[in-house]
Amino acid sequence: MLERSQLADNALQALHDEDYDVPFNTQSLNHEGLIFMGGRTSKSLDGDWTFCVDLLDTGLRQKWFSMVPELPENRTEPWDYDPFMGETVPVPSNWAMLKEKWYFFEGSAWYTRALDFGEISDAKRQFLRFGAAGYDCKVFLNGEFLGNHYGASTPFCVELTGKLRPGRNWIMACVNNTRTRDRVPMRNTDWFNYGGLYREVSCFETPKTLLKDFFLFLVPDGSFSRICAEVEISGAQSGDAVLTIPELDIEEKIPIRDSKGSVTLSARPQLWSPENPVLYDVSLALDEDRVSDRVGFRQIERRGTDIVLNGETLFLRGISVHEDDANSGKVTSETDLRRRFAHAKELGCNYLRLAHYPHHEKAAELADELGFLLWEEIPVYWAIDFANPGTYRDAENQLAELIKRDRNRASVIIWSVGNENPDTDARLDFMKRLAETARRLDPTRLTSAACLVNHANNRIEDRLSEHIDVIGLNEYYGWYETDFDDLAAIGRNSDPDRPVVISETGADGVVGEKGPDKGLFSEDYQAEVYRRQIAALRELAYVKGMSPWILYDFRVERRQNIFQNGYNHKGLIAADKKTKKKAFHILAEFYREIEAGTGTTGSVS
Ligand code: GCU
Repeated sequence: MLERSQLADNALQALHDEDYDVPFNTQSLNHEGLIFMGGRTSKSLDGDWTFCVDLLDTGLRQKWFSMVPELPENRTEPWDYDPFMGETVPVPSNWAMLKEKWYFFEGSAWYTRALDFGEISDAKRQFLRFGAAGYDCKVFLNGEFLGNHYGASTPFCVELTGKLRPGRNWIMACVNNTRTRDRVPMRNTDWFNYGGLYREVSCFETPKTLLKDFFLFLVPDGSFSRICAEVEISGAQSGDAVLTIPELDIEEKIPIRDSKGSVTLSARPQLWSPENPVLYDVSLALDEDRVSDRVGFRQIERRGTDIVLNGETLFLRGISVHEDDANSGKVTSETDLRRRFAHAKELGCNYLRLAHYPHHEKAAELADELGFLLWEEIPVYWAIDFANPGTYRDAENQLAELIKRDRNRASVIIWSVGNENPDTDARLDFMKRLAETARRLDPTRLTSAACLVNHANNRIEDRLSEHIDVIGLNEYYGWYETDFDDLAAIGRNSDPDRPVVISETGADGVVGEKGPDKGLFSEDYQAEVYRRQIAALRELAYVKGMSPWILYDFRVERRQNIFQNGYNHKGLIAADKKTKKKAFHILAEFYREIEAGTGTTGSVS
């Protein structure tokens, strides 16, 4: 059909045009278009979407998006796919988890659904919001290309205003999870390459003038007595927003000029902490628009090698987590998150490292309520095309989307700009700039990255360290590094001037009869590594926290020995998210000692 019709004016050329995708790789849907969602009413677009994998990008070549619904018998030209009928998949989902034939599928896939907007008021604006799409998402409405988003773990909005028809409209999303050299992460990761629309999709309306961004925080000046609200609007240059925090007796006008405004007020809120996760109901109004949030006020800072929360030093008793589930892949439910936090509580944690990419926004919302501190991270992971300006733009945008999404979350204390990257000049420039961007967008939190030990000198020595507040250190003595004594040597050889958090350590341990009785990959060996790691780390006074790798076993393509079977088994709990391993209890015992103040020579609260 499209080989001959005027729809694909380059019909036969579509077979010869290898630049077919260039017009669609605009990265035009980015943090600039994000809309603050707290308290907004939105309509869920989750549920069945028609779906088709498209390995050769035939859809973009033939312009499937320009097709219109038609009964097969009424079509006058042959067609290769009809987006309006056929197989459906549930959104949110990862296609790898839906059918065996899609498990390792890597490429484009088309999602289509109707959008009935009913009466369209021209006094309103209409938007779509995607919670995330893995990795590259091109959005079409009624055949019109609306924009393209890069990044597999952050939300993006698409404005529909003026483009909707009364009655039935059609949304199409072409989602592509192909690993490429210029993406973030690149082609090689130690987690499964899940593709798809795997977080919620919704649509919402706003007044013509809307509250686009809202950042509310305790001024980190050590007085615990001033709060600041920063507001950005869209659809007008000026106006008066009104901030209301009933429990603090605040109702304050925020003058907006050139679309932005801020106000700093005296207030003495109860300070948020893991022990006292107090949240305040806040609302912000501007003309017809209203948003709200539940915000905790606290101050996080570093003083020398200490991490200080609300003026008190603390030790981060943590664990690392991926977004991975044996059944649902990267799709995260509230049940899944509450189980994760319950296990972390059992472990004695006050802190989690959300590795290696932005997790579902519900994670930080629940951490605010339940009282956990969080490290959040963008997937600048292992090798990255550090010299590529387009790659930097992608990484910086993912960081900005993460920060704008979560910066009202008291639980988030650390923005991490990457993990285990080679110490090269290009990488240093790339990640230094990311750390500067994080500080510019949010001067109230700490920056970090998971760095590597300098094994040549056997010391903590990464040039990025001076550009971040907290040095994350991934060390695997007992597993990848054989000589355990070197860990103590690092302690003697290193003299960091800022806090160090052991962002990863651990070992594989295959639970039960599936694993060997002893030696590598046995549960006993994993337990022994934890015993020896704890014995060494408790002596390092500048270590102010740890998030061992990892809470649950997780899926990954690159691990295929007879014990791994496509999984990384460094979990303290098996992939069933039930079966605890011996090492779980060893770490829990150490965290109990730390909480009792007897666990480490570091200064702990
Ligand atoms: C690395 C990496 C993790 C990986 C882990 C492992 O440090 O940061 O993503 O899963 O080690 O090898 O298990």
